[in-house]
Amino acid sequence: MVTLHGKNFEPFISPQQLDAAIDAVATKVAARYGDSVPLFLGVLNGSYFFASELIKRLAIPCEISFVKVASYHGTVSSGTVRELIGVQERIAGRHVVVLEDIVDTGNTITHVVEALREKSPASIAIASMLLKPDVYKKDLPVDFVAMEIPNVFVVGSGLDHDGLGRNLPGIYRINGH
Ligand code: IMP
Repeated sequence: MVTLHGKNFEPFISPQQLDAAIDAVATKVAARYGDSVPLFLGVLNGSYFFASELIKRLAIPCEISFVKVASYHGTVSSGTVRELIGVQERIAGRHVVVLEDIVDTGNTITHVVEALREKSPASIAIASMLLKPDVYKKDLPVDFVAMEIPNVFVVGSGLDHDGLGRNLPGIYRINGH
């Protein structure tokens, strides 16, 4: 068990389980995009781990960059999202894959996808390391998901609790919720 800002977290998904799930997603992504040179856009901060793990498994030609949206504070999603920043690459005509650490309410990813659609990509897809299907009720499909989890607050592998826990291997879940 680990304690972050006074809250206890227990091991939930092992690094090995997460690895295997990311292997499976990488196989699907590679099959979908082949030689079309997709542009992967990781949503910072949390997606850095998934982005790195996914990309290193892909033998297809591709590019990767990162964007940022500040949208989350503490253990409850605020529901407010801000401006998408850091889009340097040409998006028009590209096959874009947005990379997320976790899709919870989907407010963040919806905002990112809407902002990117205005730039006329050839296609746009979402790949998320984790998805909370009991919470996510948007129409927007999450095209690639490594693992679905119940509605619990988790940290590790890029996911944080107020800045802490991103470095934990695998996924930990909060105790007592
Ligand atoms: P959404 O906008 O509600 O889908 O939340 C997406 C963002 O909230 C993610 O990119 C995370 O930064 C954060 N988030 C949502 N659920 C969790 C969680 O269980 N642990 C840590 N961060 C989370």
